[in-house]
Amino acid sequence: MADVRAMLAIGLRGQLGLNGHLPWEGATDRAFKDDVARFFQVTRGHVLIAGPRTVATVPPAATADRTVVTIRSTDAPGDVIAQFGDRIIYIGGGPAVWRSYAHLIRHWDITRLPYDGPADRWFDANWLTLAKNSTVTDNAGACDVRL
Ligand SMILES: NC(=O)c1ccc[n+]([C@@H]2O[C@H](COP(=O)([O-])OP(=O)(O)OC[C@H]3O[C@@H](n4cnc5c(N)ncnc54)[C@H](OP(=O)(O)O)[C@@H]3O)[C@@H](O)[C@H]2O)c1
Repeated sequence: MADVRAMLAIGLRGQLGLNGHLPWEGATDRAFKDDVARFFQVTRGHVLIAGPRTVATVPPAATADRTVVTIRSTDAPGDVIAQFGDRIIYIGGGPAVWRSYAHLIRHWDITRLPYDGPADRWFDANWLTLAKNSTVTDNAGACDVRL
């Protein structure tokens, strides 16, 4: 079975995105900077698949040491995953992508950050229930978010 994972960061109320970027884009507090650094450290060497707007936010330098793939809604999730054999695959979002791939995700790593501003993309805790036998790393009470 493919090792499919998700790693995401959310604000205090489940905020995920704003205007095509992280809602806390440009925040310099340590928690925000550490979270971005951890994401690129953990996903290094693996496959990162995401929708076009999310892929557009991946810094070009990060494509050197991971496989970044843009997926479209016309791609069948099972076929996409099968392309990568036994590699570790991270489903990178956005929300419609997590919803469509949730049944394949074996591990969710979710960090809640101290952000309480606006958003136009939101986390949905129901995604976590769509996979059988999936596990969750809940950083800072992220899974207390029920929207
Ligand atoms: N906080 C975090 O950890 C985090 C992580 C990632 C992204 N984000 C944020 O999320 C936002 C980007 O997400 P987004 O939803 O706006 O755009 P997106 O990343 O382009 O993802 C959504 C698009 O993916 C495509 N897609 C591919 N496979 C799909 C499938 N099986 N089912 C449904 N759609 C599929 C669809 O486009 P087509 O129909 O055109 O193919 C869909 O419109 C940004 O604000 C970004 O910063 C936040």
